[in-house]
Amino acid sequence: MNTHAPEQEQRPPQAAEEERQAPQQAGAPGKGTANKEAAPSQATKLVRLAEESYRLVQGSDGKAYAVDRGGPEIALPLRGRDGLRQRLARTFYAHTGTAPGGSALTDAMGVLEGMAAGRPAVEVALRVASYAPRPDTGSMSGQPGSAGVVLDLGDPTGRVVVIGPGWWGIEDTSPVLFRRTALTSALPVPAMGHRPRGVAALAGFRGLLNVDDAGFSLVVGWLLAALVPDIPHPILALLGEQGTAKSTAAKFCVRILDPSPAPLRSAPKDVKSWAVTAAASWTVALDNVSTIPAWFSDTLCKAVTGDGIVDRSLFTDDDVTVLSFRRVIALTSIDAGALAGDLAERMIPVELERIPPQRRRPDADVETDYRATAPLTLAGLLDLLAEVLAALPDVHLPQLPRMADFARLLAALDAVTGWTTLAAYLARAEEANRAVMEADPLATAVRDLLDRQAVGWSGTSTELLATLNDHAPDPRPRNWPKNASVLGGSLRRLAPALRASGIEVTEQRTGAGRFLNLRRTPPTDDVNRRGEEAQTPTFPIRPESAVIAVTADTRRPDLHKHPRDG
Ligand SMILES: Nc1ncnc2c1ncn2[C@@H]1O[C@H](COP(=O)(O)OP(=O)(O)OP(=O)(O)O)[C@@H](O)[C@H]1O
Ligand SMILES: [Mg+2]
Repeated sequence: MNTHAPEQEQRPPQAAEEERQAPQQAGAPGKGTANKEAAPSQATKLVRLAEESYRLVQGSDGKAYAVDRGGPEIALPLRGRDGLRQRLARTFYAHTGTAPGGSALTDAMGVLEGMAAGRPAVEVALRVASYAPRPDTGSMSGQPGSAGVVLDLGDPTGRVVVIGPGWWGIEDTSPVLFRRTALTSALPVPAMGHRPRGVAALAGFRGLLNVDDAGFSLVVGWLLAALVPDIPHPILALLGEQGTAKSTAAKFCVRILDPSPAPLRSAPKDVKSWAVTAAASWTVALDNVSTIPAWFSDTLCKAVTGDGIVDRSLFTDDDVTVLSFRRVIALTSIDAGALAGDLAERMIPVELERIPPQRRRPDADVETDYRATAPLTLAGLLDLLAEVLAALPDVHLPQLPRMADFARLLAALDAVTGWTTLAAYLARAEEANRAVMEADPLATAVRDLLDRQAVGWSGTSTELLATLNDHAPDPRPRNWPKNASVLGGSLRRLAPALRASGIEVTEQRTGAGRFLNLRRTPPTDDVNRRGEEAQTPTFPIRPESAVIAVTADTRRPDLHKHPRDG
């Protein structure tokens, strides 16, 4: 992480005096009579030094952070790499020529943490933040009161991109506080000035991804959603056989918004390793996911929606910890069928086709092209997001699917570009549900049961289990329900996939107990049917969308204008 480190210039005026008096050991002031008017302890000096140079804040995550008073709006952790502790030690040495004692630093950190804890919590964001300017101050880009999004460029200057409805620009000072981690690398500065805009600016990026046009438009939808922090983000699943450039695509999709030294990560082994994997970056790309066990499926679903994961094992004492983070996730996999049920409706499956040998390009070439086009790609995405934010208030969908906010965003994207991403997304989500259905022995057993019935089936879950057991595959699959209550849970988990295949499972409580009703329904609801019927998206980069409708020059003269832009 690069951060501003101005300690040499910020030498407090009393530092020289203190240097002469510096006690050589940590701890409380000396107790001896000679030290009655003793110089402050090292710990006290460290606290003062910190207060002079840093603002202490309590983050919304409950952690203490320090913000360099003379530097960018970046929340530094108190401990760890490039944290306040390290910086203070460095500054203390620069001022006094003496290394501070370890216990003095620890004491000082305890005091500083206590100070931060007493302050009102402030939002500390990672890479993206939503931003609603106060009406009295107006928007920093001149549009009074318009809500927007802030994207941390991740460089040492603390510059950010602010995006609002119909406009975006680079600002030197962030209106929100960002934290950085070891996984925060700098984004390319988005291209400004005279250049292709919107979709036309994405042509280079399009060429780097081995996806078809419909797939590309969905990738763009996923990227735009990733820039909107407060909505659930479906998981981009890049699927294809070996060597179809899945990893390359996942890497570029993550790098264009949230670059890090480790853009691709392996699927975690448990909740603890997920916490480590996911805590330090806004986007997480999991490479080569082969199966998704139930705990991981559940964890991923929660990361999509931002629900908290309560876990005792993450703490050494009796306390529990609630990991509550919403993340933007991409994964690569060879086999979509292996992905679990409740994930299916939170996924955007994008298939990658085989690359014929004559079309395969060396890694280095693809990488060079990526670097060359990244500033333009990012600018194009920002253009599109600005347009999408402007179009969103006019989006009214008659019915909303599970990922409602994402669906609205796609509808706005379609309005801006003329694409058909919403239809493509709904059709694929349904297809993924069917794949889950095919891959799950219980789901297929339920379907087979209904195939044997003229009308639906009703009975208790115990009776249902007995009926299903009569026709169960031999040997029974490992996840086959062992009792009636497990069966009830499994059916609830499979409900979306069953529904997509035209099977409705409802529960009914009567005086005689709990009854299950299984019946066939029309295969899809209206929203999904619209998706199925919609035409296949055409190649997204059309000449007429080369210049998007609302640009700097028409609606907002200061769009894309930055003091440095000339
Ligand atoms: N857009 C592209 N067009 C042509 N060739 C590409 C493209 N992207 C990557 N390649 C080439 O394809 C090779 C395989 O890419 P990559 O490793 O991303 O595939 P993969 O699907 O992840 O493979 P695996 O299943 O083995 O993990 C790369 O080494 C590179 O040479
Ligand atoms: Mg790979």
